[in-house]
Amino acid sequence: MLWLMLGMLLWLYVPVTTDSEESVVENLFLNSLGFTSKPNPVSPPSVPPAIWKIYNQRMGPSETEEIADFCFVEEFNVSGSVIRVFPDLGRFVILPPSNSSIVCLEKRLYFNISIMELEEEVTMGRLEVQFSQNTYYGQIFDLRLYRIMKLSLRGTEYQETNRKLLTAQTFRLLHKSLYFNLTEVCQSWRDPHKNLGLALVISSRKEGSSLDDPSDECQGIQTFLDTALLIVGLNPLQCNTPRKKRSYSKVPSASMDICQIRSLYIEFKEFGWQEWVIAPKGYMANYCHGACPYPLTEVLNGSNHAILQTLIHSIDPHEVPLPCCVPIRFSPISMLYYDNSDNVVLKHYENMVVDECGCR
Ligand SMILES: *[C@@H]1O[C@H](CO)[C@@H](O)[C@H](O)[C@H]1NC(C)=O
Ligand SMILES: *[C@@H]1O[C@H](CO)[C@@H](O)[C@H](O)[C@H]1NC(C)=O
Ligand SMILES: *[C@@H]1O[C@H](CO)[C@@H](O)[C@H](O)[C@H]1NC(C)=O
Ligand SMILES: *[C@@H]1O[C@H](CO)[C@@H](O)[C@H](O)[C@H]1NC(C)=O
Ligand SMILES: *[C@@H]1O[C@H](CO)[C@@H](O)[C@H](O)[C@H]1NC(C)=O
Repeated sequence: MLWLMLGMLLWLYVPVTTDSEESVVENLFLNSLGFTSKPNPVSPPSVPPAIWKIYNQRMGPSETEEIADFCFVEEFNVSGSVIRVFPDLGRFVILPPSNSSIVCLEKRLYFNISIMELEEEVTMGRLEVQFSQNTYYGQIFDLRLYRIMKLSLRGTEYQETNRKLLTAQTFRLLHKSLYFNLTEVCQSWRDPHKNLGLALVISSRKEGSSLDDPSDECQGIQTFLDTALLIVGLNPLQCNTPRKKRSYSKVPSASMDICQIRSLYIEFKEFGWQEWVIAPKGYMANYCHGACPYPLTEVLNGSNHAILQTLIHSIDPHEVPLPCCVPIRFSPISMLYYDNSDNVVLKHYENMVVDECGCR
């Protein structure tokens, strides 16, 4: 008897879905988000403050039922449906010393932007050169940013024609970040063959001084940290009509068994997605459940077809079932995550939250 009860208990605790079923469902959902496999961040960079700000603006509570345009980035005053931050994959270059100025730092910059979708159009590209602090150096530094136009073999003579000067600026006071407008460059980089990267050169120009100790001249620039490329992309397929911003109104607790919206919180941790989804941790997805009985009133948001189907059902309940309680209006959410190449991505996804249910 005891064994029988134990057996029953065990049977009850067997999960309804098996592991392989679960992974099929998970993959289906990942595919709908545009992934071929679950992202697995290796060395994820931190999320730039500007991205957090935009995310919070989009997901924050709003008093008014304002219309949010998910295809316009207010912060940058450009249209766009996805914001990506690409880490630099380049490396430092050791240069032969030259007489006129001391090169303190030369780095090849490379950003692999090939992950961008085919339909996506670059509406903004911005390079950020980061330093660890604001500093006044007293001496003048020259910063030059080149676009590599042609690859040259290592060891061959350095040729100016292989690269094109994009910007040159001098500074004494260094801000934490310097920004450069690379919109046009990024647009042409959509052809991967044209993306040979950039060269960043920072040199010291101390007028009329002896050049005895080059390391001294460059000391100030040691606060250089890294560079990152921010690209705003616009995918016209994701930009149909402006949508109502999530109002986060609480779903009324469902008491009756008729078709109604019910609250459901989905936590990403439950699928082990906390590794790559940065924010939100989860969200109110909701679902529809309940009967669509005869007579179907307008309260249940039935379509004309559903009303007729209910009528037929009342005549012939064996042949024709009652209509089903299904979502009839969704809203999108914004997600901030690491993609398969450790890029930081902010994107909105349609049809993630059930707003209204109806009998269909
Ligand atoms: C945004 O850009 C448009 C042109 O694209 C310009 O007319 C407008 O003044 C800009 N707004 C702000 C706040 O910079
Ligand atoms: C650099 O200076 C050396 C002598 O100090 C000179 O022989 C050489 O031609 C100079 N190179 C350039 C590029 O001016
Ligand atoms: C760029 O990233 C893609 C995957 O998004 C990868 O297949 C490709 O090899 C990368 N290219 C380079 C040059 O690293
Ligand atoms: C960046 O450059 C593009 C074209 O070169 C220009 O249309 C855009 O207004 C510039 N953006 C800013 C913020 O200056
Ligand atoms: C039917 O739609 C209205 C708004 O159009 C909504 O308030 C109501 O909750 C919906 N009914 C159901 C069952 O979801």
